[in-house]
Amino acid sequence: MTKPSVLLTRRWPAAVEEKLGAQYDLHLNRAARPLSAEEFREALQHYDAVLPTVTDKIGRESLDVPKAHTKIFANYGVGYSHIDVEAAKSHGIAVTNTPDVLSECTADLAMMLLLMVARRAGDGEREVRSGQWDGWRPSHLMGTKVSGKTLGIVGFGRIGREVARRAHCGFGMEIVVYNRSPVPPADLAAVNARAAPTLDALLPDCDFVSLHCPGGAGAARMIDSRRLGLMRPGAFLINTARGEIVDEAALAQALMFETIGGAALDVFEREPAINPMLVQCENLVMLPHMGSATREARLAMGLRVLDNLNDFFEGKSPRDRVVCTETRT
Ligand code: DGY
Repeated sequence: MTKPSVLLTRRWPAAVEEKLGAQYDLHLNRAARPLSAEEFREALQHYDAVLPTVTDKIGRESLDVPKAHTKIFANYGVGYSHIDVEAAKSHGIAVTNTPDVLSECTADLAMMLLLMVARRAGDGEREVRSGQWDGWRPSHLMGTKVSGKTLGIVGFGRIGREVARRAHCGFGMEIVVYNRSPVPPADLAAVNARAAPTLDALLPDCDFVSLHCPGGAGAARMIDSRRLGLMRPGAFLINTARGEIVDEAALAQALMFETIGGAALDVFEREPAINPMLVQCENLVMLPHMGSATREARLAMGLRVLDNLNDFFEGKSPRDRVVCTETRT
């Protein structure tokens, strides 16, 4: 029996590429850049499976083919707002993602950002590296205490829960949650959290707000100037979810006029382009989308894709099949 053909749109950890190569007719995009829409359309005519990442913008343009040969997009990552799921569905293409295996590492990074922005770690690092540090003094680089403060978690999925656990158990923070669907009381009780009825009700109650909801058109610019205005003066915004959730121009304004205390971003509206207004904000920490960037998580993500592929080509329903898609098997 011929092996299904599989295209990796970016290079993956070597151990996973090796395993994929042993089981599938593996093809690699050896260029250090994402495929263009044209290259993607071509891939759809040839490969049984395409394994994309967040850097592949799989919208109508990339899917504009009369008939796709590809049967599955097995995405390397948990978020899939870069894939037009409805358009994929109309081609009969299944979509899977990689939840769970990156939740802890992404939550670690969210806590790291929270601490960095509150304790001015970016300012301190820049000062030391530039040779500007002139020694200890009582008023030097004073930040904001984290322990015991109130943290608002927007989106209480796997990553949001891991952040809540770290913040509550490690830092004694009080947790307030806003989630689209009701959260079971036991899940709130696990971190002594209370649920806010709306996002607008959560924002004025928190010293820190961390975003963990899915991206996509429905969440676009959910944190806009009005909502930034609802945050406490001195509060901090952390985004490790998706760039489109935050209106970056409005955030830059809030940071420049110091209507909030600061922000920390791992994701951006037009990655890898950075809004030049943001670069001017000293009270902002920025990282290059590295929430899941540990050897352990990136390996586990790859293995999870492999599980999904194996299930799919064995005619089973992959465990991480994304809602609203159907397979042809
Ligand atoms: C994820 O898993 O969603 C990461 O942001 C990379 O796509």
